[in-house]
Amino acid sequence: MPTYVTTPIYYVNAMPHLGHAYTTIVADAYSRFRRFCGDDVRFQTGTDEHGEKIAEAAAKAGETPRAYVDRIAAAFRETWPHLSVEPDYIIRTTDADHVKTVQDILQRVYDQDDIYFSEYSGLYCKGCERFLTEKELVEGKCPDHQVEPKSITEQNYFFRMSKYQEWLIDHIKANPDFITPERYRNEVLSFLSEPLEDLCISRPTSRLIWGIPLPFDPNFVTYVWFDALINYLTGIGYPDDPNFSFYWGASEHVIAKDILKPHAIYWPTMLRAMDLEPFQRLHVHGYWNVDATKMSKSLGNVVRPRELVEIYGVDTVRYFVLREMSFGLDASFSGDAILARHNADLANDLGNLFSRSLAMIDKYMEGQVPAREKASLLTPDDRELMSAVSAMVAEYREYMEAFAFHKALQAVWEVIGLLNRYIVANAPWELAKHPRQTERLRTVLAFLAEALWKITLVLGPIMPETAAKMATALGMGDRFASAVIDDAVIWGQIPAGTVVGQGGQLFPRVEKKVEAAVPAAAGQPAKKEAAPVQEEGLISFDQFKTMELRVAEIVAAEKVAKSDRLLKLTVKAPEERTIVAGIAQHYSPEALVGQKVIIVANLKPAKLMGIPSQGMVLAAKEQQANGTERLVVTTVAGPVAAGSRVA
Ligand code: ME8
Ligand code: MG
Repeated sequence: MPTYVTTPIYYVNAMPHLGHAYTTIVADAYSRFRRFCGDDVRFQTGTDEHGEKIAEAAAKAGETPRAYVDRIAAAFRETWPHLSVEPDYIIRTTDADHVKTVQDILQRVYDQDDIYFSEYSGLYCKGCERFLTEKELVEGKCPDHQVEPKSITEQNYFFRMSKYQEWLIDHIKANPDFITPERYRNEVLSFLSEPLEDLCISRPTSRLIWGIPLPFDPNFVTYVWFDALINYLTGIGYPDDPNFSFYWGASEHVIAKDILKPHAIYWPTMLRAMDLEPFQRLHVHGYWNVDATKMSKSLGNVVRPRELVEIYGVDTVRYFVLREMSFGLDASFSGDAILARHNADLANDLGNLFSRSLAMIDKYMEGQVPAREKASLLTPDDRELMSAVSAMVAEYREYMEAFAFHKALQAVWEVIGLLNRYIVANAPWELAKHPRQTERLRTVLAFLAEALWKITLVLGPIMPETAAKMATALGMGDRFASAVIDDAVIWGQIPAGTVVGQGGQLFPRVEKKVEAAVPAAAGQPAKKEAAPVQEEGLISFDQFKTMELRVAEIVAAEKVAKSDRLLKLTVKAPEERTIVAGIAQHYSPEALVGQKVIIVANLKPAKLMGIPSQGMVLAAKEQQANGTERLVVTTVAGPVAAGSRVA
């Protein structure tokens, strides 16, 4: 069976944060789960690279749109392997084949008279890249971006979306899982209970040129949403590629509620106008919040997934987000919450269970999985364990299919708890003391190994790295990659005599934690850490993170009058600033212009010889034989954009 899983294509106006990571981890885990169920899966993510927002961000960074989108698209692409996210295809809306297909589609829809020219005025939110209705505003502002939308009146092209309204209502009513969870389906139906307006699908080139030109009027480019949604088709080779005919009927889109309307209303009506069947299912999740505010790049209160991975490891991050958020509802990120999940659920419940089970097989069975007793001699404990495992697999399957990841994981952790109790109740260390109990000891250890193999299998889609380690330690490494969900149901898969390895420490305990960067500008003061404990001159990662190091390009340099030590530098990092540096005895001003150096960007401003200096250039100090020092400024090898963070 085919399955086609997509994430939104992310705007390249800032670097990826935990919100993007969440949707993409969900799509990855679900893809792996469907493969585990035997499906032929295609998983796609990508980047949305046209439109006003992007053009503005590029201008702000002092780059051409093209250079800018290449750089940020690469940052998204490079993030995924760190999260064990393995898409089959990563699409960019600036790809030539995508651009061509968008134009072909526009021409067709125009030719069939579903696009017309007219004048419109409305309230535009650039953050959303769409017109908002009065109803959507909260105190006159866009609730997601907390800005007042701009009133715009202009002539544009419009897609006859209203023509498909009745069809859409019928389709949603006839297909209960077209939009899930149900609250979002209801939200869409309630929105559709009022007449739909047609969709403005162009922008005049006098206002915006960074977009796909309309094939039938060179004075306009395509509205970014009309362009973006089509990625779900172009990514599988619409119209000619066999992948398109194979996968499209099995499409499942994963998004957050911020983009419900474009996906649940614009997109199905566009597909209808193209004579294509609608997507299969739309899965809508809530927001990751920090202090009750949506984590977003425009607000700056973001958590960087790669920083979390460095501290906790990739599988803790994947487990945490899937376990902590009830799919559909909002969730709050906090350093305490991830630390607790890591240490309690993972290091303790799962990690200790695994290492102690393997240690016992090592100690009492010379590292080989024993043969278990005949079925007639099983105790009620054993039978409870067997039926709990098969019930868990059934629940897991049902919940994973329904995108209730937190419930699927709860079911797995119930069995982990049961196994821990099984060990205590059967006390293998006591059984080992009495030769007459050897048979019982064999059964208990064989059952532990077997149950851990089932747990390994169901955790595969959620924590691929850990599950692979567990499989190898259980002597089942060869079976792991090709295992299917039925292997988690059928008891007695590990043959007696299988040599197990050491359990090791799957999740080393972590003491530190991470908080989101809360910008002072957002109204709340940044959280104060307790006075750091100095351990032999070491600093924590959190302490290190307080220092903002950036690449800065020196665009001008001059001597400071009346000082033989100071140079006044103008740098771009990426915005321009002045830094006064004590390097005049080591560098001529001309030699510095054009160099890319590393600066401390968040140093408190200071005045040197009356000149305000914002930051500090890092330099190596070399001791000379004659007792003086030579300074060599840090430069960066290889091309890198001014303003890039150094970490
Ligand atoms: O909307 N919590 O791109 P975008 C949870 N280009 N998920 C979050 C989140 C948060 N705080 N912040 C972002 C766009 N996301 C368009 C999409 S699709 C054809 C075009 C995730 O960069 C979530 O998946 O603003 C959300 O829907 C998406 O990022 C928005 O990403
Ligand atoms: Mg957004």
